[in-house]
Amino acid sequence: MVRNSVSVIDYRQPNSEIQEPRPTHHYKMRHDHLITTKQLSRGDIEAVLDRAAEIDAEPEAVAGTYDGTLLGLLFYEPSTRTKMSFETAMKRLGGDVVDMGAVESSSVSKGESLADTVRVIAGYTDALVLRHPREGAATMASEFVDVPLLNAGDGAGHHPTQTLLDLYTIRENAGLDDLTIGIMGDLKYGRTVHSLAYALTNFETTQHFISPPSLQLPREVVYDLHQQGTSIKEHDTLESVLETLDVLYVTRIQEERFPDKDEYRKVAGQYQIDAETLADAREGLTIMHPLPRVDEIAPDVDELSQATYFEQAHNGIPVRMALLDLLLGDSNE
Ligand code: NCD
Repeated sequence: MVRNSVSVIDYRQPNSEIQEPRPTHHYKMRHDHLITTKQLSRGDIEAVLDRAAEIDAEPEAVAGTYDGTLLGLLFYEPSTRTKMSFETAMKRLGGDVVDMGAVESSSVSKGESLADTVRVIAGYTDALVLRHPREGAATMASEFVDVPLLNAGDGAGHHPTQTLLDLYTIRENAGLDDLTIGIMGDLKYGRTVHSLAYALTNFETTQHFISPPSLQLPREVVYDLHQQGTSIKEHDTLESVLETLDVLYVTRIQEERFPDKDEYRKVAGQYQIDAETLADAREGLTIMHPLPRVDEIAPDVDELSQATYFEQAHNGIPVRMALLDLLLGDSNE
């Protein structure tokens, strides 16, 4: 069955017999796909974050509720956090995972197409998580499966589940409205950046983009953000904006995406922060990074109260549990 990769969440009409406030677990997502954050409304995002907060507060309430549910993991690119936190989330909910494993040890190495692989694995599982080096791969794959497909990164494109945990972390530490955020590093190839920038257009934010000129946001993303009426500014140094920021989101230069390694060498090692660089930052600054870091955040920053990247990574568990619960909920009634 061919499905469309359109809007993910279908809120049920309010039931008049349900007393306000309505618990968020009465929301259900349709069995559909999560490909980019462009498809998410503010209501969609809040439903996931609210459910994640409930799960974070009382994880035992959902433990074991998805006994027998299987999540298929297809990672065509390296991953530590995304893959392991999806696995942890599914298992904490009582389900299990089946993992394609390394590309070299799968039939991909025999030349099997992505379409054929996902079609088969979709038949084994209740939902799929796909990471692939090609932009657009998740959209294409979603057209061949009839279980929800979650994009865990498609090349330099999007990484929507990372964004949901980023938003959860921002909401906990700085709030999502009246927010001034600086997003720094590889804005050209960084899929976490693209997904976050689009998602933030649902909130009252000012977005500052800090990068070398060669790694600026793709022009089409800038265009879209303007179209959404979001206030954005581009900079080539952090100093000019640091003092104004509530959140500083640092990213790794995506070496693997550079067609020309000389170009990578020209920018590698630029845009690093250490405790001294941050001397003028607000005390309440929230410093984030999707991880893995290479050298863009010096270890002395870890000691600062503003360092939030490990907490951010931990938030991947309740957020992915919430997402799976909202996507798979119908089948558990
Ligand atoms: C990011 C990714 O894969 O895009 N990692 C992650 O999922 N936490 C960021 C990166 O690799 O730099």
